[in-house]
Amino acid sequence: NGYSVAVVGATGAVGTKIIKMLENAAFPIKEVRLLSSKRSAGKKLVFKDTEIEVQETTEDSFSGIDIALFSAGGDISKKFAPEAVKHGAIVIDNTSAYRMDPEVPLVVPEVNPEALEKHSGIIANPNCSTIQMVAALHPIRKAFGLDRVIVSTYQAVSGAGNSALKEMYDQAQQMMDDKPYEANILPAGGDKKHFPIAFNALPQIDVFDEKGYTKEEWKMTNETKKIMGDDAIKLSATCVRIPVAYGHSESVYIEVKDTTASVEKIRDILRKAPGVTLEDDPSEQMYPTALTAENKKDVFVGRIRKDLDDEAGYHMWIVSDNLLKGAAWNTVQIAEKMHELNLIQPLSNK
Ligand code: A2P
Repeated sequence: NGYSVAVVGATGAVGTKIIKMLENAAFPIKEVRLLSSKRSAGKKLVFKDTEIEVQETTEDSFSGIDIALFSAGGDISKKFAPEAVKHGAIVIDNTSAYRMDPEVPLVVPEVNPEALEKHSGIIANPNCSTIQMVAALHPIRKAFGLDRVIVSTYQAVSGAGNSALKEMYDQAQQMMDDKPYEANILPAGGDKKHFPIAFNALPQIDVFDEKGYTKEEWKMTNETKKIMGDDAIKLSATCVRIPVAYGHSESVYIEVKDTTASVEKIRDILRKAPGVTLEDDPSEQMYPTALTAENKKDVFVGRIRKDLDDEAGYHMWIVSDNLLKGAAWNTVQIAEKMHELNLIQPLSNK
């Protein structure tokens, strides 16, 4: 009894974390099917002490699958998600392929679970930087309104996949050994030039558009408006890759609508907010960091302070594990929420 769950991209940075998150999922699982490209077919991965052989993803991979979790890149989702839906599966997609499709719910369970009620088989998991920001800002917005957001990110290399992580470690070693280094992946696989990430900071994640913003920055702007259901929020982002392995950090400036807000009131709200942990006490040097957020499911907030000039302005520091709340955990949490809301019909009952 339980659901048959497929993980597409099971060998990747996000996929391996999805397998971990599924081990403690709040829904029954009958079968886990691990899918990758041909390269990793035959490899064995462990789910709850059982070895499972990874299979190549094909159109026939989804027969009997109730829930398919995709994180193998946008092209793979575009190719295979419709196949999974045809076979009767609910798809939860980690890539940007379907996020802005008006038919597709874009969901952070703490923020807009009601969006799950109306879908045509595919649910999109938002961009990692967006998820952690909206999880923290949503309770503040509910209490005081939200007029504008200006965010600068400090993003971990694992967000670009395992190959980018390996390249960072190789470069670091080569630089410390005073040897020539190579850069082939970052800042964006699809762009012309590549720069080293080791001991560096790269103000480019994904490719630029004609306005001078990158796709990653546009994702933060557009996805936040969709998730919060509010096109009037003003939001500009600067997304920066830094040589951290796991955990995105964000310096976030907000302007609220209700000027009766205060630092203490915002702290109180975040103390009670689901999925959020407040770590904010400058007198004790208490604030979240990427290393302390690693392997934790929550979004951590600290350094909350009032702007020096604007009555409605506040600054804060928001940190979360980009592979967990930013990806694998939010994905599995969406499946948990759908199960809780009775939105998944096991194929065996159909
Ligand atoms: P594989 O191990 O076969 O390359 P990451 O984000 O860490 O780079 O991982 C990407 C994931 O997407 C891996 O699991 C990878 O599998 C998978 N993947 C890459 N290309 C394909 C493909 N053509 N079909 C299915 N899965 C793919």
